This record gives sequence, C-alpha cells and structure tokens, in this order.
Amino acid sequence: MSGQVLQIGLLGCGAIAQYAHIPAFARARQVRLVALCERAEDLLDAMGRRTGVSRLYPRYDDLLSDPQVEAVLVAVRDELHVAMAMQALRAGKHVLVEKPMGLSSGECNDLLQLVQQTGLKLQVGSNKRHDPGVSFARDFIVERGGVIFSVSGIYRDSIFRSAMQESCLDPLIRGTPPAAALASAAPDPRADREQYNLWTQGAHLFDNLRFLAGNVTAVTAQVARLSGHCAWHGLLELSGGGRGHFELVCKSCGDWWEQYTVYGETASVDVQVSLPFYHRPAQVRAFDGQSQQWSHPLGGHSNAYVNQLEHFADSVLNDHPTSPDAADGMAAVKLLEAVSQSIRSGTRVQLA
Ligand SMILES: NC(=O)c1ccc[n+]([C@@H]2O[C@H](COP(=O)([O-])OP(=O)(O)OC[C@H]3O[C@@H](n4cnc5c(N)ncnc54)[C@H](O)[C@@H]3O)[C@@H](O)[C@H]2O)c1
Repeated sequence: MSGQVLQIGLLGCGAIAQYAHIPAFARARQVRLVALCERAEDLLDAMGRRTGVSRLYPRYDDLLSDPQVEAVLVAVRDELHVAMAMQALRAGKHVLVEKPMGLSSGECNDLLQLVQQTGLKLQVGSNKRHDPGVSFARDFIVERGGVIFSVSGIYRDSIFRSAMQESCLDPLIRGTPPAAALASAAPDPRADREQYNLWTQGAHLFDNLRFLAGNVTAVTAQVARLSGHCAWHGLLELSGGGRGHFELVCKSCGDWWEQYTVYGETASVDVQVSLPFYHRPAQVRAFDGQSQQWSHPLGGHSNAYVNQLEHFADSVLNDHPTSPDAADGMAAVKLLEAVSQSIRSGTRVQLA
C-alpha cells in the first residue's frame, strides 16, 4: 500500500463515472484517482483532460498491469461486473464494483469465493448505505430496536429523473466504441427493460431493506405492467420472524421517491432518501421507546458516492470490513432472483 492514500484505477468512463465517481474522487479523502481505463478512446482522452490523470488505458489488461494501481473501481455494465472484478482480484487489486454485484447468485458465488481465497477487499457500489441519514437509521434501529417485526420499502423511479439529473449534472460525454467491440457486441441485456429495471433499481432497494431490517428468508411477489412501465409488489419474511413489504416502480408519473419504515420492539425509524445526485442526506425520524424521544439528525457530509469511496479506502488501508461486502452483494442478488422466480411461478419462494 502507498501509505495513507489508496491509489485507484477507474474502469469505465460512462454515465455513472462522469455523474458520480469522477466528481467524488475530487472530494474524497484517503483516495487518489491514478489511472483511467475506457475502451472508447475519444472518451478516455476527454476524461484524461477533465481529471488531469495521465495514465490512460484503452485495454483493461494494461490497467491491471500498472503497479501504481492498488484497487479498481469497476463502473461498466452489469453483465461485466463479475468477470472484470475477478480479473482485478487475480491481478492482486482490491475492488469496488458497481451494483448489482452480478446477474446471478452462481456467478456472485464464484466472486465471493475468490475474494475469500485472495484475502483482498471487495465492496459493492450500493452507495445509499453511505448516506449519513441511512447509516444513522441503521445504527439507531440496531442499537435500540430489538427484534424487527415490520418493515416497508418503497422505491419509485420517476419518468422525470433524466430531466432532474440534467438540471444539476454536467452534460454527459459519449464515446465512440472501437469497431471491434461493435462487431463482436453481445446482445445488450438492457433491451429487456422489465428485467433490467428490476435489477438496476431493485439492487438499491433490496440492499437498503437488508441493511435496515436484516435478512429475508422468503419472498412472494407480483408485478403490474402498463405502457412499458412496471410496478413490483411483494411480501417479505424476515429471519427474526417479522414481516415486510416492498414496492418498486419503474417508472412512476410522479416525483422520485424512496422511503423505508422499520418497526422494532423498542424503536422505529422512518427514512426518506433523496435522489442521490442532489447530495441531500436522507430525512430521518427515529423514535426511541425507552426515552420516548424523537431524533431527527442532520447529515453534513451527504455525498454518498464520496462516503462510499472513503469507506472503501478505510477498509483497505486499515483492514476494516467493507460495506456492502461480497456476501451482502450476493444476498441482494439472491433476493432479486427470488422476486423474479416468484413472479414466474406465482408462488412463495424461500431463500436458501
Ligand atoms: N450506484 C449508482 O447510483 C448507479 C447509478 C447508475 C448506474 N450504476 C451502475 O453503473 C454501471 C455502469 O453504468 P453506466 O450507466 O455508467 O454505463 P455506461 O454504458 O454509460 O458506461 C460504461 C462505460 O464502460 C466502457 N467499457 C465497457 N467495456 C469496457 C472494457 N472492456 N474496457 C474499458 N471500458 C469499457 C464503455 O465504453 C462505457 O463508456 C452499471 O452497472 C450500473 O448499474 C450505478
């Protein structure tokens, strides 16, 4: 390790890299962006100019061969996460991989095994855990709540989200993929919008539900489809005996909305999460049954993408646990699989 700073190479300079990760590197302590890898060379050059980073690699192998790179942030499409993360671990690099960790529990299990074999760190980019309001709520309910007996999670992506993002983010620079990549391109999994939306948004919803309320042992789910949009609803059975429900809408004709309510034996929390690009901390109302007092915290450092980078760096530099770790990443994927399976079969699905 290079001491008190973790040197990271970024794989993929697309939308989330430009909107979230590159700006976060400029603000985060304990990390330095030392190299960029992007197969679209015009985009790579543009991001090199924007960031001042001079180690620019169109090929991933070359990024992984760079001894300056101690860890890789994998910010490519979902179906590449596991393969690219495994390649990085085999090259001796720690990994921060975008959510969802993978597209099946089988491939996530291979990745989990490799993390355990190498002893390297892997964190999944479920950044909402690092919103100070969400982490306050989690600590509050774990410390004071006792057994969780009821939870609800609502996640509604808005048909107006692109406009909301464009109002506060720099315009996206699109690259020209190399001809070889276009010629050999596998079918784009994003073509199946229903499946893609469930996984890409559901990865956040189910990670947060587990973070706040613990493990889920069984799921019963249904979906409504209307004009290309979907609303998934479901019943969750919690490992402690509690029950919960979720609603995921992609996309809603309304505001962007994310809310969790958790009731334990002796405390409760209500968490209203903001659109992450607004960098507003989640609004939390937490009730402690013993003191009969409400808490309503204000989170100052509220950029969850900055906080997740700092947490990852701290995990590597000081050998602390990552959050979410590979086991959490796989658990969220298993929940997504269970939702799909329950919808297909029309039955309750038990998680192993
Ligand atoms: N955490 C969040 O809030 C959040 C938000 C949006 C997206 N995401 C996740 O981020 C990931 C990336 O999404 P995106 O919208 O930025 O995708 P994108 O397609 O806009 O960007 C991916 C980039 O990777 C490059 N790339 C692909 N294969 C490559 C290779 N082999 N070598 C080098 N470069 C390569 C592409 O050229 C592209 O520029 C997805 O997994 C998505 O689910 C997370």
